[in-house]
Amino acid sequence: MEQLVSVILAAGKGMRMKSELVKVLHTVAGRPMLAYPVAAARAVGSSRIIVVAGHQSDKVEAALQGQQVDIALQAEQLGSGHAVLMAGPLLAGFEGDVLILCGDVPLIKQATLAAFIAAHRENRACVSVLTVELDDPAGYGRILRADGRLRGIVEHRDATDAQRAIREINTGIYCCQAPFLFEALGKVKTNNDQGEYYLPDIVSIAAAAGMKVQAVKTGDFEEVAGINDRAGLAKAERAMQARIALQHMANGVTIVDPQATYIDAGVRIGADTVVYPGTSLRGATEIGARCIIDMHSVIKDSKIGSGVHIKPSCMIDGSTIADNVAVGPFAHLRPQAVLDEGARVGNFVEVKKSRIGRDSKVNHLTYIGDATIGADVNVGAGTITCNYDGRRKHQTVIDDNVFIGSNTALVAPVTIGKNALIGAGSTITKNVPENTLAVARGNQKNYENFMLPKIGKENK
Ligand code: UD1
Ligand code: CA
Repeated sequence: MEQLVSVILAAGKGMRMKSELVKVLHTVAGRPMLAYPVAAARAVGSSRIIVVAGHQSDKVEAALQGQQVDIALQAEQLGSGHAVLMAGPLLAGFEGDVLILCGDVPLIKQATLAAFIAAHRENRACVSVLTVELDDPAGYGRILRADGRLRGIVEHRDATDAQRAIREINTGIYCCQAPFLFEALGKVKTNNDQGEYYLPDIVSIAAAAGMKVQAVKTGDFEEVAGINDRAGLAKAERAMQARIALQHMANGVTIVDPQATYIDAGVRIGADTVVYPGTSLRGATEIGARCIIDMHSVIKDSKIGSGVHIKPSCMIDGSTIADNVAVGPFAHLRPQAVLDEGARVGNFVEVKKSRIGRDSKVNHLTYIGDATIGADVNVGAGTITCNYDGRRKHQTVIDDNVFIGSNTALVAPVTIGKNALIGAGSTITKNVPENTLAVARGNQKNYENFMLPKIGKENK
């Protein structure tokens, strides 16, 4: 099989985004848009992927860390043709095919690219261009044909009125024989309206030299649409969300309203889980089977077991939740919260860097930070682990089967032994041994026959 290398153009700033951030790093379904053409290039079997970066190339490189991508630097943006030329030195001696993609076209599908590459190879073309017909082709490069055969591409701003009437446009996706590509790029001139080196000019150069060039038409414009501004970004997000939702539904997940649900690429969800509207599932989140994710929860980088019920309006970040746990409504699980099987975390409870053991309950108005809680513990309403002394964080340990009365302050570092019981309203500053009742609060004094002064009446 012939070798394939992909070159992905991503050096432009993206002026129309009106952003401090380079365009290709704006995210679609939680990933920089550039990550999608990189993944597609990988999926069609590229032995090497070269990203041409320019604006914020350091950030682009950092975003692609660990993805086995080479960066070619285009320090000055002199045009798309010049951009591809920058990958030349990395491809010296390479004689296979070069697939050229744009970093701002995230919806491109592996199947479309595979069919395009197959057509390129079957027809032994020197240059193949992926094209599409649009009702409104304004702004795009137009496909010029003579006797039905591809002759060249003219940019909208350089086109005559007659050429502007052509509805077949250049998607900016090409497949070229490498030796010809770099030879032709050397011949590209800047005699156009923008004074740039235009990549599409290789088509007319090849045609004039009698090489085989072809336009391969695709039917789906959405897939090849480039993102140029924030409106385009929102459209791409919606399209990607629709795809992601369909995938999960095909896997047996109920998504009550796909239009109102946000699921990042790469999130995993088990069968018979129900996801209600307003939910945002982000990052490296994994959710098991038969869960209910009720409305308006944000779940980020968290691992959730099966049979879990996330009640409405929870924020769950960097947490691990075992099977059959219930959380919320209105709970906040911060990074490194670990809930063991059957645990319950209720309303207005915040948990940070803490483990809550099997079948333990923290049901109301509580802060648990830097704590390890055993199994079958009941933490009463309004309990606070006082983990911070103004300088450092300290640990609270609560062993199995402990009962913490309501409105208890546990001043860390402190350990509560097995089966202990803490009286309501206690401020616990010393360790409590197992099987012990600890009460640390002011004793109640009752003053008998006490009469309230009748302030109101006297003042009249
Ligand atoms: C380009 C094509 C046009 C096609 C359209 C499809 C050219 C001259 N025109 O137009 O025929 O219909 O895409 O969307 O190519 N880039 C660099 N370095 C540069 C210039 C561009 O890396 O010096 C990159 C951009 O970041 C972008 C891609 O090349 O990813 C295309 O450049 P852009 O300026 O967006 O070209 P268009 O005007 O959209
Ligand atoms: Ca573009």
